[in-house]
Amino acid sequence: MPRTVDLYDSAYENYESETYREIRTETYGKDFGQTSWVTTDESEEIPQLLALKADSSVLEIGCGSGGYALHLAEKIGCRILGLDINVPGVRNANRLAQAKNLASRARFKDQDVSKVLPLEDSAFDAVFSNDVLCHLPDRAAVLGEIFRLTKPGGRTLFSDGLVVGGMVSYEELTIRSSIGFYVYSPPGENERLIREAGFRLVRAIDTTLNAASIAKRWHDAREKRNMQLVAVEGERNFEGLQRFLSCVFKLCSEGRLLRYLYVADKTE
Ligand SMILES: C[S@@+](CC[C@H](N)C(=O)[O-])C[C@H]1O[C@@H](n2cnc3c(N)ncnc32)[C@H](O)[C@@H]1O
Repeated sequence: MPRTVDLYDSAYENYESETYREIRTETYGKDFGQTSWVTTDESEEIPQLLALKADSSVLEIGCGSGGYALHLAEKIGCRILGLDINVPGVRNANRLAQAKNLASRARFKDQDVSKVLPLEDSAFDAVFSNDVLCHLPDRAAVLGEIFRLTKPGGRTLFSDGLVVGGMVSYEELTIRSSIGFYVYSPPGENERLIREAGFRLVRAIDTTLNAASIAKRWHDAREKRNMQLVAVEGERNFEGLQRFLSCVFKLCSEGRLLRYLYVADKTE
């Protein structure tokens, strides 16, 4: 299904705009430049779920505009590499790393993460990905790459907001998929693929209602700034994104699409 609505280009190209900054702050509480369903509580829990330490080497798959990776580099002191296919996102991430004097610890590269990654085996203590794997066609291959890149004894964490929990109409699927390529998964499939890749599943946490509340807050924060956003995105895109966010809210709050956060170990 072709993309009919743009989310990521406008979010990353307008990262510095006061309007977009206010929307992120109103949506998430803390502004890490997010374009996902990760609440601030979840963001603050991730270092502990990944057992990050100052000497950890970390890979973020689908780092977007880089704000969260830089937060980890600053707060934990770890080294982090962020990969994303979106060029304005990666450009923004590298610019922020320079501005915050973190470029020696945090690096960002534009990379299609659905491909074999040009990185050495067992290069990272932790590999994580927030709401990105749903955009990649072959999850078994991606989890295989994540396994290859994780050190024995290391951890991985990823979220999937597209676990099918109930009946979803074609029209809802069309709106939910309007911003790009998406894969929907049946319940239990991520758990199976995690094990098949070689990991030991530690936890699968249901965060569906958090995703519903992020979608509602994001929608409402944008609606309040309707005129400013139409001037930047155009009316058609503004309306398309509002429909997308309303659809995420409805499907998640009714439990018809579920979001899970998975944590897994690569045992020694
Ligand atoms: C929902 S956003 C999440 C971004 C960030 N993790 C966050 O929490 O805000 C999904 C991200 O996946 C990236 N993405 C989609 N397909 C990709 C691919 N094939 N390779 C690398 N990144 C991809 C998009 O550019 C976007 O930044």
